[in-house]
This record gives sequence, structure tokens and C-alpha cells, in this order.
Amino acid sequence: MEIMKGFYLAFLFLGVSSLHVFAAHVFPGARHSDEVVKSVTFRSPAFTLGPGEVQNTYYQGVPFVEGHVALKAFDAEVVDESGNSVPLNEVYLHHWVALNYIGTNSTDYVPHGPISSSGSIIGNDGVCPNHALSQIYGLGSETRKTSTYLPGPYGIEVGKYENELWLLNVHAIDTRGTIDPFGCLECRCDLYNVTVGEDGKPLRDGYQGGLFCCYDGVRCQLKDGYVGENRTYYLEYTVHYQEWDDSILPLKIYIFDSTFEGSTCKVFVHVLVLNRMDSVLRP
Ligand SMILES: *[C@@H]1O[C@H](CO)[C@@H](O)[C@H](O)[C@H]1NC(C)=O
Ligand SMILES: *[C@@H]1O[C@H](CO)[C@@H](O)[C@H](O)[C@H]1NC(C)=O
Ligand SMILES: *[C@@H]1O[C@H](CO)[C@@H](O)[C@H](O)[C@H]1NC(C)=O
Repeated sequence: MEIMKGFYLAFLFLGVSSLHVFAAHVFPGARHSDEVVKSVTFRSPAFTLGPGEVQNTYYQGVPFVEGHVALKAFDAEVVDESGNSVPLNEVYLHHWVALNYIGTNSTDYVPHGPISSSGSIIGNDGVCPNHALSQIYGLGSETRKTSTYLPGPYGIEVGKYENELWLLNVHAIDTRGTIDPFGCLECRCDLYNVTVGEDGKPLRDGYQGGLFCCYDGVRCQLKDGYVGENRTYYLEYTVHYQEWDDSILPLKIYIFDSTFEGSTCKVFVHVLVLNRMDSVLRP
């Protein structure tokens, strides 16, 4: 399911923030349930990045709140071994995704999809076929300190099923020591010296940059002679939740995709990459 590899990020953000506003305005008197909201913080498995390196990993069966609960908010960010936030100009979080599925805790890395049987994803109520954009939460670096809090009686219902597990997809780019950090974030193929995709097949003609060039394990070009340590990081995530009860109004998540063309959500758009030097020299 290669569609899981890229995300048309604006839509979840707009969706969540407009719901937030909607709920706050339409039901100003709704019972505020702050007093019963609990929070618990977890970490993904550790991952190690050297300067310029990319990781795009699917972690299955990650730690999560047990039982039938309503999610009120979810915060996630990349931290180091001491739990400190990692500056985005060192490790850029290209995207992260959290979704629930019914299955077993297989830790096998599945290169072309998070779960071999995609039918087991629970995820959201979005419109894309084949479980594209099926995350409950997720976005990129900009989610750090962006509130996802659902006010009033609203909550996202999870944990209804017996074998419900959680999956995290973390795509991070370490830009320390790179010749063009911004180009690394744009996933420019020349900077990654990439001419074939993750599947070993040549990239299509004219493909200059995008997710097909910054897949797991590639490295963005470093400044001559740059040597930097390997560092260990985690995605740290805090789940704010309350026990399920009948007073909670289940909030459904719908993600729309502007690239939908009748049968597939393409999830991300390929834009011709301009040569930025040219545009600087010849505006
Ligand atoms: C799944 O396996 C990983 C790695 O062995 C472990 O850390 C995690 O706690 C397991 N999750 C569940 C839900 O059993
Ligand atoms: C780029 O990749 C080619 C083959 O894939 C390899 O021969 C060459 O050494 C690489 N260049 C750098 C700078 O890593
Ligand atoms: C970083 O790890 C790689 C192997 O994963 C190793 O080849 C390299 O020497 C390490 N770099 C440093 C500076 O320790």
C-alpha cells in the first residue's frame, strides 16, 4: 500500500481544526470533561540516524492506552534519549501517522504497506479507498505544540475490539551536515543520489523530487568531510483520553484528498521542482 507513504497533510489539519471550532461554537454549554481526561506518554522503539540519513519505519503493536476509551487529544514529537525535543533543523519529521488495526503484533517491517492484510485497518471514516489516509492522528513537524484537543462531549472512540493494536509510521530526515538542508527536506533526488525507487525500479522520467527519493535508508549529500555522531531518537507521544461512557459523543474523522480521481486517492501531489539557484539568479 504505497499510498501510506505520503500524505496530503493539509486536510487532516483543516479537518481537525475546523471541527474544533465548530464544536466550541455550536455547543458552548457542553459539559467540560477536563477533570476526567487522563494523559499517558509513550515512546516508539528507538531509531538511530547519522547525518543526512532518512528513516521511514512502520512500528506495529506500539504501546497504547488499554480498553474502550475516548481519545481527547494526541501529541507527538521526536525526542532524544534524555527526552528533550530535537530541533527541526537537525531532525525534520517529514510525517508521522498513528492508526489502529485489528491484528497481531508482528514487528516485521513490511516495505509496501503497514500491514500485510490492509483489510484489518480500523482507522478513520475517510473517503479514500484501500485505506489510504486512514490515520486517526498524524501530520508532520508542524504538529509539535499544535492542539488536537476535542472539547465538550466529543471523543474519538477506540479500543472497542479485542485484538485492537496501534501502528506508528515515522518518516524522519536528519539534516545535520548536509549541503542543502532545505533540498533534503524537499526530497530532491539529486541530493539523495537516487535514480531507482525503494522497489529497485527506475524512477519515472522527469521525477525530480518527492517521497520516492527519500525512502528508508537513503542519505542526503553531506558537506565534504563532515563527520557527525549517530544519534538515537524516539517518537514520543502523549495520549489524552477518558474511559468510554454514554455521555461521550463519538467524533468521526473524515480525510478528503484533492488528488482523488474516481478510484484512487493519490495522497500526494508531484510538483515540478524548480532549480532554486536559477530562480535566485534570474528572477
Ligand atoms: C509488540 O512488540 C514490541 C516489540 O517486541 C513490543 O515492544 C510491544 O510492547 C508489543 N506490543 C504489544 C501490544 O504486545
Ligand atoms: C551515486 O550512485 C552511484 C550509483 O548508484 C554511485 O556509483 C556513486 O558513487 C554515488 N555517488 C555518491 C556521491 O555517493
Ligand atoms: C554510524 O553507524 C554506522 C552503521 O550504522 C557506522 O558505519 C558509522 O561508522 C557510525 N558513525 C559514527 C560516527 O559512529
